[in-house]
Amino acid sequence: MSAADAFYVTTPIYYVNDSPHIGHAYSTLACDAMARFARLDGKRVRFLTGTDEHGQKVEKAARDAGMDPQAFTDQVSQRFHELAQVMRFTNDDFIRTTEERHKKAVQTLWRELVRRDQIYLGTYAGWYSVRDEAFYAESELVDGVAPSGAPVEWVEEPSYFFRLSAWQEALLRFYRERPDFILPPARRNEVVRFVEGGLQDLSVSRTSFSWGIPVPDDPAHVIYVWLDALTNYVSALGHPDVQTDAYRAFWPAAVHVVGKDILRFHAVYWPAFLLAAGLEPPRRIFAHGWWTIEGQKMSKSLGNAIDPVGLIEQYGLDQIRYFLLREVPFGNDGDFSRAAMVTRMNRDLANDYGNLVQRVLSMVQRNCAARVPEPGPLEADDRALLDAAESLLPRVRSEMAVQALSRALETTFEVIGAANRYVDARAPWALRKTDAARMATVLYVLIETIRRLAIITQAFLPDASARILDQLAVPEDARSFARFGETGALVPGTPLPSPAGVFPRHVESVGRMQVESRQAGDAG
Ligand code: MSP
Repeated sequence: MSAADAFYVTTPIYYVNDSPHIGHAYSTLACDAMARFARLDGKRVRFLTGTDEHGQKVEKAARDAGMDPQAFTDQVSQRFHELAQVMRFTNDDFIRTTEERHKKAVQTLWRELVRRDQIYLGTYAGWYSVRDEAFYAESELVDGVAPSGAPVEWVEEPSYFFRLSAWQEALLRFYRERPDFILPPARRNEVVRFVEGGLQDLSVSRTSFSWGIPVPDDPAHVIYVWLDALTNYVSALGHPDVQTDAYRAFWPAAVHVVGKDILRFHAVYWPAFLLAAGLEPPRRIFAHGWWTIEGQKMSKSLGNAIDPVGLIEQYGLDQIRYFLLREVPFGNDGDFSRAAMVTRMNRDLANDYGNLVQRVLSMVQRNCAARVPEPGPLEADDRALLDAAESLLPRVRSEMAVQALSRALETTFEVIGAANRYVDARAPWALRKTDAARMATVLYVLIETIRRLAIITQAFLPDASARILDQLAVPEDARSFARFGETGALVPGTPLPSPAGVFPRHVESVGRMQVESRQAGDAG
């Protein structure tokens, strides 16, 4: 398998100072859809997530909880593990920065940077934000706080520095040569402007607390949590052993998905560290936007952080996955409101996709003796729908190549809309009495279209898509993109199981949501 067939997708590793909320679930969900899509597309995939467990912020959270930091991080990291299970994330690995494999990689990278004279000892005197785990220059502060709104404190301590200033030109050249290194493009421009503004050497060790990886040969210092955390992307592939199968297959074929708040660390510091250590930078950094909750910033102090587990219990996993991936263009900010979510899941999933599948399969069940119908000669509009379904895969693939998740779904739902219009226009329930052969053709065209739709939607709506493919009696080994374009994949005469609704409709009743199973619409 060639390097072009490898796809390595990573989430940010989550701070274990707090339990996971919907914002965290979002980063991982996006990666999960990309990983599933790439697997369906026959790529060799590695999908990594994990937890970021060192630093002052986590140390403080452990102290506030009255716990030893290791016991505390064990406990909180477990919640992220559980979330991955509940959300049915298909990550291949889960890295914790307190693991030995990771510590070894970080210390080796450090030594390599020292060996290449990229690190020197000095004194840091400046502002630090524990919440952001970031250093700020006086000129960056806005009304005495970090640009993120986080409080800052004055820090003066011996510190090792990384010669970031020496990498300005090399980084600008790298961004020029790799115009799609940072997506979306507006974010790229932001980073380029920042680097053009000049880079200061970066403090990469701390001495005023001890919860971190010790600096080799100088244990009074712990390695700055961002140098520690970013290294997870290679430590999980076996670094410092760059000869492992995983490292050779997946580095630098990486797409790092990050929130816009941590873009600078990934798009400036990380490639600089790697270039300075003689390693290749990753292929892409994609920065997504932030979710607010009913118009408000999501925060612990406002008490509005949404627990994904409760939401899934109430609305269903595929419904939540769909809403988060479809509601806003990937890269933009979004507002999470229950009203918007219910509207989306009812309109797109229950009324459009669910109703298409349900009414077509019910008609096949009733009027074609519950078997795949035998098609006759195709007419122009039959071909038009089949062509739209066939060209969907290359269209969705090109959206996914730039991580345009919502556009991938929008494109898919255009074909769902076209299929529903075709049902209405061809009215197979009326043909039943006038032209049964034509009805069989129309229903065949429809189930073939649904087969293709469901193969694609497996990446986004895994559970419902599997159930649709089950109802079409598509064998497990015929569900990959390699089988997408197969003509005659649905063999006339094949018995089909009784159809059952896949997307329940949510209705509001006396201030409370309840779920009602919607039956087939106008199927006759
Ligand atoms: N530990 C660092 C990342 C290190 S990666 C080498 C970190 N952790 S975090 O837990 O604070 O954030 C993890 C991710 O969650 C970030 O990408 C962040 O943007 C994302 N989100 C946190 N709140 C969010 C929203 N309200 N909306 C969308 N994403 C949000 O940063």
